[in-house]
Amino acid sequence: MMATPQKLIIDTDPGQDDAVAILLALASPEIDLLGITTVAGNVPLALTEVNARKICDLAGRQDMPVFAGADRPLERKLVTAEHVHGRTGLDGPDLPDPVTPLQDRHAVDFIIQTIRSEPAGRVTIAPVGPLTNIALALRKAPDIASRIKQIVMMGGGCFEGGNITPAAEFNIYVDPEAAAEVFAAGIPITMMPLDVTHKAMTTAVRTDAIRATGTRTAIAVAEMLEFFERFDEEKYGSDGGPLHDPCTVAWMIRPDMFSGRHCNVEIETQSQLTTGMTVIDWWQVSGRPHNAFVVGDLDADGFFTLITERLAKLP
Ligand code: RIB
Ligand code: CA
Repeated sequence: MMATPQKLIIDTDPGQDDAVAILLALASPEIDLLGITTVAGNVPLALTEVNARKICDLAGRQDMPVFAGADRPLERKLVTAEHVHGRTGLDGPDLPDPVTPLQDRHAVDFIIQTIRSEPAGRVTIAPVGPLTNIALALRKAPDIASRIKQIVMMGGGCFEGGNITPAAEFNIYVDPEAAAEVFAAGIPITMMPLDVTHKAMTTAVRTDAIRATGTRTAIAVAEMLEFFERFDEEKYGSDGGPLHDPCTVAWMIRPDMFSGRHCNVEIETQSQLTTGMTVIDWWQVSGRPHNAFVVGDLDADGFFTLITERLAKLP
């Protein structure tokens, strides 16, 4: 007997890896995706909202509510990552202009209204981009903090360091003030830092297995990955690139494939040198209270088998 599907809002800055997270959620009966909220990050908001809608089209889900949110961080100038994701943010496949409509409501209002209207403790939020929308929602409606079931986010780094600076991972670096407010909100957080996502590599064998599925979606995903991974292959000399964002949705479906520990996590917002660094007390030396379950490892083969199997269920 399957458990009740988990209600989920994905907050995202697509992004090829964001796309796979969204598609995994859409293809999985364990997930009831209530809506997709978009934020400026990998590319400007005008592109991330279009990309989210293109991904829904690809999955044959023009019914999925997609919302546009913050077009810049709380305080800082937007930093983007076209060098990784391409000019459109979803380079690789040639996807047509989106049919899935953009909702009129602001993403932050959708988050607030959904958390207030759904039963308390039932809705998960999976931020896989900068945390600006989440911080804005908590500022506008502090009452929702106690009603959110959990936040399952991709961002930060522990022993792995950073990927946009030596100390900071991109999602946190873009809006460290937002990250600091989210990590201080008292909401249960599961954190997927670079330490685990860099073990989820899109090797040629894994990408070929996805393509071999032969569906429109699987072929488009293979084309996304082959574009997305070139940056990390050049940078790290690796076979493939890290498939960051789907670690969040996969953990919701198969937490047994992941391992980690409860830690204190603080965000550096003052230092010029280490702004956006996630200071993760993995060895429990600070005495500061635990505010996140930090994931450090995964069953990478199981992860890609899950993604490949689930993508095969889409058109
Ligand atoms: O650092 C990796 C993260 O930044 C991923 O979420 C990727 O999509 C980019 O947003
Ligand atoms: Ca992302």
